[in-house]
Amino acid sequence: MSNLKAILYPIALASAVAACSQDTEVVQTEAAVESQAAAFSEFVAVLHPTDGNDVDGFVLFSNTDEGVRVAAQIRGLAPMSSHGFHIHEFGDCQAADASSAGGHFNPAGMPHGAPESEQRHDGDLGNLIANDAGVAQSNMVDSELSFSGPDSILGRAVVIHAGADDLESQPSGAAGPRVACGVIGVGS
Ligand code: CU
Ligand code: ZN
Repeated sequence: MSNLKAILYPIALASAVAACSQDTEVVQTEAAVESQAAAFSEFVAVLHPTDGNDVDGFVLFSNTDEGVRVAAQIRGLAPMSSHGFHIHEFGDCQAADASSAGGHFNPAGMPHGAPESEQRHDGDLGNLIANDAGVAQSNMVDSELSFSGPDSILGRAVVIHAGADDLESQPSGAAGPRVACGVIGVGS
């Protein structure tokens, strides 16, 4: 828990700064936002359950030489179950079913696929698999993800689905309803 707290604190701080910025420039250019983001090395999405669900957790994103490391810890899943795990286009989890997050993040206009497929959405992270306690952990490096430019994942949403992503059905792997959602923001 203290680990999660350490992760959450900078986010709370960032939101607080954003909330009381009347005395500074409220409107920033995309470039300014990007150069600020570049000053940070780690990004995080804190996932909250959608209406009627009990799944939550967090996903950390950090830079490596081979790509972006994606470290997830999600709880509240059925034991030994598989769940579609994606980055969706819009950083908006406000809808009760997280439909506000839109479809899979797909800046290159590709078909849906597996993380290791040549043709895939940038947001296709495959499946998370829960252990017998209903907790799923993953730690992978994805070469398609980026923190800058038009393909940046910052400000987009991480979504966990009720069912498994079959890695081929179009447009989203037939993974079923969205059970948890969180926006990718600055971690530290
Ligand atoms: Cu999804
Ligand atoms: Zn997809």
